[in-house]
Amino acid sequence: MKNQPLEQTWSARVNGQLKELSVSPETRLVDILRNQLNLTGTKISCEVGRCGACMILMNGEPVNSCLVMAYQSEESVITTIEGLHGEKEGELHPIQHAFLEEGGFQCGYCTPGMIISTKALLDACPNPSLEQIETGLCGNLCRCTGYGGIIRAVNKASERCAVKGTVGTVVKENVNRSAVNFVQTDGAET
Ligand code: FES
Ligand code: FES
Repeated sequence: MKNQPLEQTWSARVNGQLKELSVSPETRLVDILRNQLNLTGTKISCEVGRCGACMILMNGEPVNSCLVMAYQSEESVITTIEGLHGEKEGELHPIQHAFLEEGGFQCGYCTPGMIISTKALLDACPNPSLEQIETGLCGNLCRCTGYGGIIRAVNKASERCAVKGTVGTVVKENVNRSAVNFVQTDGAET
């Protein structure tokens, strides 16, 4: 009989709150988020790191949570789409507003991942060129929009954030970007 891996304590700061769970080390982060923390804004599609539906920020970097195991995300700082908001909690983040206004989605399945990748892009590059937007979102696939509305939304979010001098708000947390160099997103352009 195959041995079942033992569960261990997993802890991380998720959307500003410390979470402690009992999981096996190879549980996927996306399953922890969706099934154990009920953060179902993070979507599952390809499950092999090619679509970006499951994109989250881990220690400030965008990662495909279907490729991250519990042991790799232990003691990390995680932001999901539920962790973004405007100046006040409960308000939409400027990027979310821009996607609404510019028709940056149709079915909406890719949208949480798109918005998370946009947040990461604008944090790193507040005034991106078209090429930089395409590169920043190259790990996120959309089957519906043709990307025109998404590009407009990123540009509008960039302009608004430049006026305000901020890229909106993530729930308060202490992000250490250098702590996640063991995880890479897949930049496939299929
Ligand atoms: S479900 Fe994770 S990249 Fe597609
Ligand atoms: S809006 Fe449907 S997949 Fe992007």
